[in-house]
Amino acid sequence: MSKRLLASYLALTAGVLLALEIPLALIDARTQRQDLENAVQRDAFVVASLAEDRLQSGGASAGLNAVVLKYRRETGGRVVVVDRRGRSIADSQPSFPGERNFASRPEIAAALTGKTVSGLRFSRTLGHHLLYVAVPVASAGTVYGAVRITYPTSALDARVNRDRVTLLVVALLVLAWAAAVGLVLAHSISGPLRRVEETAVRVGAGDLAAVAPEDAGPPEVRRLAAELNRTTTKLAALIASQEQFVADASHQLRTPLAALRLRLENLESEVNPAAADDVEGARAEVERLTRLVDGLLTLARAQRHAPAPVDVDVGEVLAGRRDAWLAFAGERGVTLVADDAAGLSARATPERLEQVLDNLLNNALEVAPSGTTVTLRAGAARGRVEVRVRDAGPGMTAGERARAFDRFWRGAATPGDNGGFGLGLAIVRQLISADGGTVELESPPGGGLEAVLTLRAGAGPASGQPARGTASTV
Ligand SMILES: Nc1ncnc2c1ncn2[C@@H]1O[C@H](COP(=O)(O)OP(=O)(O)OP(=O)(O)O)[C@@H](O)[C@H]1O
Ligand SMILES: [Mg+2]
Repeated sequence: MSKRLLASYLALTAGVLLALEIPLALIDARTQRQDLENAVQRDAFVVASLAEDRLQSGGASAGLNAVVLKYRRETGGRVVVVDRRGRSIADSQPSFPGERNFASRPEIAAALTGKTVSGLRFSRTLGHHLLYVAVPVASAGTVYGAVRITYPTSALDARVNRDRVTLLVVALLVLAWAAAVGLVLAHSISGPLRRVEETAVRVGAGDLAAVAPEDAGPPEVRRLAAELNRTTTKLAALIASQEQFVADASHQLRTPLAALRLRLENLESEVNPAAADDVEGARAEVERLTRLVDGLLTLARAQRHAPAPVDVDVGEVLAGRRDAWLAFAGERGVTLVADDAAGLSARATPERLEQVLDNLLNNALEVAPSGTTVTLRAGAARGRVEVRVRDAGPGMTAGERARAFDRFWRGAATPGDNGGFGLGLAIVRQLISADGGTVELESPPGGGLEAVLTLRAGAGPASGQPARGTASTV
C-alpha cells in the first residue's frame, strides 16, 4: 500500500511538473530568441546611423571598420555594412578573404528594399545556423545601404539549454521532495492500518485480548480500529457467556446426577433379579453422563480464569500418575514404564498436568494390546520440558491426528467401546494451552502413537537435565 501511495504522489507531481515545465521551456526558448533579436536590432540601427553619413558621402570606411571590429570583440556578433548594391564597406569577420558582395543574401536583399528583417537561417558558407538581423541604412526615403548583424545560434542554444538544465534540476528536486513527503504520508496511513491488520490476525487466531490502536492514522483508519475493537469486545462477551452457560449447566447437572446414582444404588438391593440388569444398565448410563458432565465442566473451567502456572516437579507428577494407573495397566496386561525424571522442573499447574497425563494414559492403555508397553518419558532442552506418552496401539493416520483434538470427535481405533465422548484430547489441549504449553500427536517408527507435551522449563534445580531412564513395571 505504501508503494502505491508513493507511486500515486510521484505520478501526480511528475504530471504537474510536465504540464508546467514543458510550456515554460518552450516560452523560455522563444523569449531568449526574441530578446536577442531585439537587442541585436537595436545595435544594427545604431551601426546603421553611424554608417549613414559614410554611405551618403562615399568617404573613408576606417572609422566604421573600427566600430564593427569593436562590436565583434565585445559581443561576438558579426557586423557587415553594405552599400546600396550589396557591396561590403565594413565587415567585422569576413568568412573568407576578399568577400565583397552580399547582394545574394536574402536578408540583405530585403534590407536594401527598405525592410527590417530578422530570423534564423542556415548559412551554407559557414555550415551552421545563424540568427540574423538586417536593417536598411536610409534617409528621407532613400536606401543607401544595409547593416546586417549575425550570431551563430550556438550561443543562443547554450543559453536555452542552460535554462532547460535548471528546469530539470528544479523538477528533480521537486520530485525528491514529493517522494520524501509521500513516504511520510504513506507511512502515516499504512503504519496504523498494518497494526489494525495485525490485531485482526491475532483476533482471528483466538486472541480476544488483542486491541487495535485507535489514536493513530487518518480518521478512516481510527474508525476501522474502533469498529474492530468493538467487534472483538462483543465476541469476547459472547464467548464468555457461552462458556459461563456450559460451566453453569454442567455444574447444575452434577447434583441431580449424583442423587440419581445414589437412588439407583439403593434400588439395586431392592429390585428382583429380573430388573437388576436394567438398574445396572441405568447406573452405567448415569456414570457415563457424569463423566460427560465432568468433562464439559473441566473444559469450561480451563477456558475461564486459570490459576497461574508454578514450578512443578515433573518427576514427581510422572511417578504419581504411573502409580495411579499401574492397577488398570495390570488388568489389561500392559507394562507401564515411567522415566525417573526426579527434579525436572516445568512451568505448569499440577492438577492440570495430572489431568492431561490421565487423559493421555487413559487413551494409551485403552488401545495398547496386551503384552505391550506404555512409556512415560520426560526430558528438557532449550528452555522447554518435553513429556512423551507412547503406546504400541494401532496409531492414527495424519488425517485422524489433525482431527483428534476436536471436541466430540472419536476415531475408529479405540478397541472396544470405552464409553468415551471424544472430549479427552480436547481437554488435554485446552489445559496444556492454559499453562502456555503445546501438545502434538506423532507416529513413532515401529507403530503406535506418541503424544508429546511441551512446557516451559521451570526454575527448579534440575531443569535442563536429561531424564534418567529407569522403569517401573507391573
Ligand atoms: N493412543 C491412541 N491411539 C490410537 N487412537 C487414539 C489414541 N488416543 C486417542 N485416539 C483416538 O482419538 C479419539 C479421540 O480421543 P479422545 O481422548 O479425545 O476421546 P475418547 O478417548 O474417544 O473419549 P473420552 O476421552 O472423552 O473418554 C479416540 O476416539 C481414538 O479414536
Ligand atoms: Mg480419551
